[in-house]
Amino acid sequence: MTETQVLVTGACGEIGQALVQGLARRGGYRIVTADLAPLPDTISSLVSEHVRGDLLNKFKIFYDYDFDVVFHLAASLSSKAEESPEMAHRINVEGTMQMLAMAAYRSEKYNKHVKFLFPSSLAAYGFRDLAEKTGAGRVKENEWNAPQTMYGCNKLYCEKLGVYYSRFLGQRHLEPNPPAMLDFRAIRFPGLVSAFTVPSGGTSDYGPEMLHAAAQGRPYACFVREDTKISFMAMPDAVRSLLLLMDAPREGLTCPVYNIAAFSLTAGEFREWALKAFPGAQITFEPNIRRQGIVDSWPEALDDSKARVEWGWKPDYDVDRFFNEYFLPEIRKRYQ
Ligand code: SER
Repeated sequence: MTETQVLVTGACGEIGQALVQGLARRGGYRIVTADLAPLPDTISSLVSEHVRGDLLNKFKIFYDYDFDVVFHLAASLSSKAEESPEMAHRINVEGTMQMLAMAAYRSEKYNKHVKFLFPSSLAAYGFRDLAEKTGAGRVKENEWNAPQTMYGCNKLYCEKLGVYYSRFLGQRHLEPNPPAMLDFRAIRFPGLVSAFTVPSGGTSDYGPEMLHAAAQGRPYACFVREDTKISFMAMPDAVRSLLLLMDAPREGLTCPVYNIAAFSLTAGEFREWALKAFPGAQITFEPNIRRQGIVDSWPEALDDSKARVEWGWKPDYDVDRFFNEYFLPEIRKRYQ
């Protein structure tokens, strides 16, 4: 059987590592990865080839590869992006555009719809104040598209770029026999929590940072208020969603971008769960005004009904299962 050729950029990141493991578990894929960093031992044996370096300089070499699917995960996350917005724009927008152009070129040249899976984010939404946020309820894809971070602006714009490259590139769709276009599919992820890796550079990081610190017996000062609430998800669900959307027949998909959701939790509730599992945990709240502002602009809950209807999305882990059947058993094995 021929293998499906897959490229995973940002493979050393949290989603990247978990996705490479997910693809390898399924089997039938030849996995090429790209990242600034060398591959961690946990995934290096699962990958056929790793291209190390800055994608903005390296993207040209991918024109010579025959990819069926591209997972473009490389990005500068929301807190890091605020430290250097112009650099974030280069990584998040120019980097994505180069990869889209490459996948579009290969689609046209070889007359196949290269699939392009793009992780967007709840950062694509934006509320002006807490009253707007709490009043918004479960946010739908086309509502509140007013991001307040460079990262959120980048993600929202890249969704639009994905639509352009997959439907309107060069206005070729108006020709009588338009060429094959790439097949762009995006998911707006909530904050993700893995038992195996710790995030860096994001703003939803306080959730996973708090839990990993508690499990290791380290004190943790949470950088947002106790009442701060956003949508979260277990990493295995995030990976499953990417694979589900990759597999979904094109005809069933009516839009390029889908919310997915699992559970919403306040920072105080994260602390309660941590204390229940690790009674000695020392968790305090020392809000950072900038990072607090970022999460205050993000939704408490996402409406994922479109993904449920169109490609059968449903999370495996609600909050109880997340802690009791995934996070706590895995983290105890890891640190104790
Ligand atoms: N987890 C990301 C961040 O905090 C949001 O997509 O930047």
